Amino acid sequence: MRFFLILLVMAGLISCSPKSTDKEATLASISDPEIMKYAIAGKTLYENNCANCHQSNGTGLGKLIPPLRDADYFKASVHRTIWIIRHGQEGEITVNGQIYNQAMPPNPQLKPLDIAQITTYLYNIWGNSEGIISSSDVEKYLQTAPDSD
Ligand code: HEC
Repeated sequence: MRFFLILLVMAGLISCSPKSTDKEATLASISDPEIMKYAIAGKTLYENNCANCHQSNGTGLGKLIPPLRDADYFKASVHRTIWIIRHGQEGEITVNGQIYNQAMPPNPQLKPLDIAQITTYLYNIWGNSEGIISSSDVEKYLQTAPDSD
């Protein structure tokens, strides 16, 4: 019994460590239960709709697919990210000093709630902490193109 307790405490210490190197431990940094609800659904949607290209760990793929994790372009605008998810993205963009110029397809099948869950996931992991991005936020952002920001 005592051994079991020690194991539990150790497991707790390890999972609380901010230096976790486990690539799949993304959700572990979220403590708010509301954000967690969105993020769990968002993680699945991300795996199914985005990770083929941007990779599960968000690093992108070489010079073809830009990163989302630790990416200046991604961090700069939630509005723009939501617009890109729905409408796709074409033409030259610079992410972390690297030029990308490939087409990302649009996602007309993703509803505002889906996009809200994906962005809540991405903007609350990898050191981001934007809180909940709701489906009404998404609907609002989809009404106007982001270059007006
Ligand atoms: C078929 C591959 C592909 C898929 C699937 C895809 N993307 Fe992209 N994405 C790209 C490419 C390529 C670019 C760069 C477009 C350019 O060069 O103009 C990009 C650009 C972006 C950008 C802006 C650049 C950056 O790094 O911040 C964001 C944000 C983004 N994608 C998010 C997503 C999300 C979220 C999903 C899932 C809903 C997704 N993408 C699905 C290929 C993809």
